[in-house]
Amino acid sequence: MDIIILKDSEQVAITGSRHIQNLLGTKPDAVLGLATGRTPLALYKKLVSACEKKMVSFRDATTFNLDEYIGVRPEDMQSYRSYMRRELFENIDIRPNNTFLPECVDGESPFDVGPRYEERIRAAGGIDLQVLGIGQNGHIGFNEPTSSLRSRTRIKTLTRETVANNRQYFDDPDSQPQLAITMGIATIMDAREILLLATGDEKAEAVQQSIEGPLSSLWPASILQMHERVTVLLDESAASSLERRDYYRWVQDQKQLLLVQKGDT
Ligand code: PGA
Repeated sequence: MDIIILKDSEQVAITGSRHIQNLLGTKPDAVLGLATGRTPLALYKKLVSACEKKMVSFRDATTFNLDEYIGVRPEDMQSYRSYMRRELFENIDIRPNNTFLPECVDGESPFDVGPRYEERIRAAGGIDLQVLGIGQNGHIGFNEPTSSLRSRTRIKTLTRETVANNRQYFDDPDSQPQLAITMGIATIMDAREILLLATGDEKAEAVQQSIEGPLSSLWPASILQMHERVTVLLDESAASSLERRDYYRWVQDQKQLLLVQKGDT
């Protein structure tokens, strides 16, 4: 894992945006896996701004989001489809037909969404870069603790703490969904590259457990230790419980030195 500790959440957003811009620069038709929640909001703002300045284009890109609620219609304000439209899709040059979420369409059974989504990802050639946030309980997507580490896109029941964390987005608590369809852990692990973003103290334990703890379905993000190409972007607060913080900083310093020697900076 490439663990990069940055000054603050602004730097996390800037670094994440550059990463995605670089990918689209070399592969304009890249397939991106995207996340919702608070964490990627600043990243999406940077991408919108880069797109406005013609520093990046999404014209040939395809996107697959990690998850969507069950029982929320795509046009509802609280759907992740609406979030993505509002925060990113409407403000960049992506083709709406190239944006996918694991959502029930035309009264489709939620049980049929997972296999269809997996097939669609395969047909698109697989995900080049998957953007991830991390839950306070270590979830990635809505793969809550004890999710099978080999799971595929499917229905998942949210934990009470996840429901509580997301309550603020629902005016009427009774309308808040308890179920979602999420990419599975194996689906996420199939991505050729992963970019995990975490900011704030409340993520410090999940970050520490997932990076330095044992591989365990109790901290689903710990599976990322098994992926070949993961970049973790952390602000100081999210990195604050890492026992080997100094080592990760040292590794980044050494990398910089190597790049300078190579003439890449
Ligand atoms: P957050 O959610 O960015 O809103 O903290 C992250 C997640 O649950 O994956």
